[in-house]
Amino acid sequence: MSKEKKTTKTETTTEDDEEVVIIDVKEEPELTVEDLPGVGPATAEKLREAGFNELLAIAVMTPRSLADAAELGEAVSAKIITSAKKLANIGGFISGSSILERRREVLKLSSGCAAIDELLGGGFETQSICEVYGEFGSGKTQVGHQLAVNCLLPKEQGGLGGEVFYIDTEDTFRPERIAQMARGVGMDPEVALERIHVARAYNSAHQMLLVDEVQRASKNIDVKLIIVDSLIAHFRAEFLGRGMLADRQQKINRHMKELKKLADVNNALVLVTNQVMSKPDAMWGDPTKPVGGHVIGHASTFRLYLRKSKAGSRIARLVDSPNLPEGEAKFFVTADGLRD
Ligand code: GTP
Ligand code: MG
Repeated sequence: MSKEKKTTKTETTTEDDEEVVIIDVKEEPELTVEDLPGVGPATAEKLREAGFNELLAIAVMTPRSLADAAELGEAVSAKIITSAKKLANIGGFISGSSILERRREVLKLSSGCAAIDELLGGGFETQSICEVYGEFGSGKTQVGHQLAVNCLLPKEQGGLGGEVFYIDTEDTFRPERIAQMARGVGMDPEVALERIHVARAYNSAHQMLLVDEVQRASKNIDVKLIIVDSLIAHFRAEFLGRGMLADRQQKINRHMKELKKLADVNNALVLVTNQVMSKPDAMWGDPTKPVGGHVIGHASTFRLYLRKSKAGSRIARLVDSPNLPEGEAKFFVTADGLRD
């Protein structure tokens, strides 16, 4: 199949001589008609038979002409064209009103905590990447778990009514915790766990491949939340030294772009977690700044800085938002989940 990545395995040796296998991605995968959401094998074949092998060719059609050419219904054709436009990466201008139209589709996911929701102007927005950063134990993973559970709730209850993909890089996903939080919102824990799909990422290349995996799964599953916890840990461990910094930042940049595409195409929320430096360290710079620097910050629409506060409370601070005032929200991590 043409869309399959060519990968080669290369052995590398870490400082303490522990052998790790890194899957080296040699090529950007070319998206094909099979990657369009809602296009099954039969439709894909019709498109190919009519000569539509490239997304760009589909993106520039009108629904009627595509319907005629590929013997499809006009409504189906319209949907395929819309998806192709989104995936085909067509550069160029679009009107402010079509941006507004897309913005109208934005959904908001409740954290279960009124103060945090208010800080975010009603909740965590779809079509965006939210970066949650803070030092160890500040509650980043707890926020991820809570949003995973809440995402499953119907929209009327502050959820997104869709499923969750959780990319776990530090082995900190806990089904028991999901079960507790599910009970906390009155949901059957088993039903919740069925709809949260978890993959352990073993290194940064694997982490990036898992994003393609989510893209593939999204054809059959209504993906509404993608979590990468932690976004940075593998990159930080693997790309050591100044000589590898540019390479690392480029990889993170590409990773973030692919995540943003997932958010846009699926009208989903992407939540990534990031660490701050706990002790000053020449290599990684400012101890109060999130690791990974500008690449992650620029690609994120919302950034929440978490810190521990008095009497077991935690503070979430909204940083650099495009359309919301900076501010803070106080919350607690309880047995049932995040609470005011
Ligand atoms: P790192 O991943 O180490 O950088 O930290 P993090 O920011 O992801 O922290 P995490 O979300 O794991 O927060 C851990 C804290 O959440 C703990 O110190 C507890 O205070 C709280 N916590 C975790 N699990 C529970 C639980 O089951 N009940 C309660 N009440 N609190 C919990
Ligand atoms: Mg964590």
